[in-house]
Amino acid sequence: MKRPVAYIAGTGKGIPAKVMTNHDFAALGLETDHDWIVERTGIVERHIASENETTCTMAADAAREAMARAGIGPGEIDCIVLSTATPDRLLPSTAVDLQAELGCTRASAFDISAACTGWIYGMSVAEGLIQSGVVETALVVSAEKMSAIVDWKDRSTCVLFGDGAGAVVLKRNRAHPGKGVLSTFMRSDGTLAELLWRPGGGATIPFSEAVLADRSSYLKMAGREVFKHAVRSMSEACDRALDGAKLRGDDIDILIPHQANVRIIEATAKYANISMDKVYVNVDRYGNTSSASIPIALDEAIAAGRVKEGTTALFVAFGAGFTWGSMIVRF
Ligand code: ACO
Repeated sequence: MKRPVAYIAGTGKGIPAKVMTNHDFAALGLETDHDWIVERTGIVERHIASENETTCTMAADAAREAMARAGIGPGEIDCIVLSTATPDRLLPSTAVDLQAELGCTRASAFDISAACTGWIYGMSVAEGLIQSGVVETALVVSAEKMSAIVDWKDRSTCVLFGDGAGAVVLKRNRAHPGKGVLSTFMRSDGTLAELLWRPGGGATIPFSEAVLADRSSYLKMAGREVFKHAVRSMSEACDRALDGAKLRGDDIDILIPHQANVRIIEATAKYANISMDKVYVNVDRYGNTSSASIPIALDEAIAAGRVKEGTTALFVAFGAGFTWGSMIVRF
């Protein structure tokens, strides 16, 4: 593929107002403490959606901001790609709700299910549609209401996650030579699906009183195993994105990794030979917002002036599936 064919024209985020700190878990009767969570994960607080805040409403907030920054109206969007592990309902997609909410009357709309890697997958698909000539302008949104699928009685998982959405307008590059997506990389290994999953409540084991009683519709995770695979796969993904763009670690101005755990982030940066002062970290304030974490971090990095004209950014993610992937973008 001759690159760059597509560039990021605007970003935005949609974050619930309510903040839950590590100290707030005590009120739920969970035996955990702030120091344990900070030491193991780097997380201090996370945002939690209210009943009225849905995956779609957070997505719409993020999308409106991204479209305003890109200076485009809803009628100019050709395609909405929405990644989520927490669709508002199982059929039809959350993407069509977003299409209706935004009034994107010319847009196709579909969900992508790739867990925490969803934004990288979504961007890759959108770039491919732009390359093929089908799409001129895509809206890539990642929105997650993780608070709806974690088991609030399981201290080993519920402390890790948060809610939020991030969005990007991806446009065909007609007049900005050298600017845009330089490389993408995607992989998966479904033999490891059971290390991070929701066993019950799907078509195989439909939702029932038994599922409710055994709590099998909530997220289950083998933390240590996930940690090992995350570091290994994100390291591989950094190499692949760099190879694809014919760049080296030294050429990267900023690494924006999936924000799951600061220890995973540090190990990945070390492997990629990128010093921590070049890494954007906000997991302390958001927890793990699954696929929304990278676009939220990107939006913040732009607002903070850490991503500007000419910046070369490396994005890398890993999630349930397992899925993993990476992307290099020049701004
Ligand atoms: N508070 C206090 N103690 C806890 C808590 C908690 N919230 N959770 C678990 N513990 C206890 C365990 O019960 C265990 O106690 P025991 O030794 O008496 O049995 C002890 O802490 C150690 O538990 P481990 O699971 O071995 O702890 P570990 O050091 O592996 O840390 C963690 C757990 C933080 C989940 C880590 O494995 C991890 O970060 N894994 C990656 C998971 C991740 O980020 N997943 C996100 C989805 S995938 C992605 O986005 C990359």
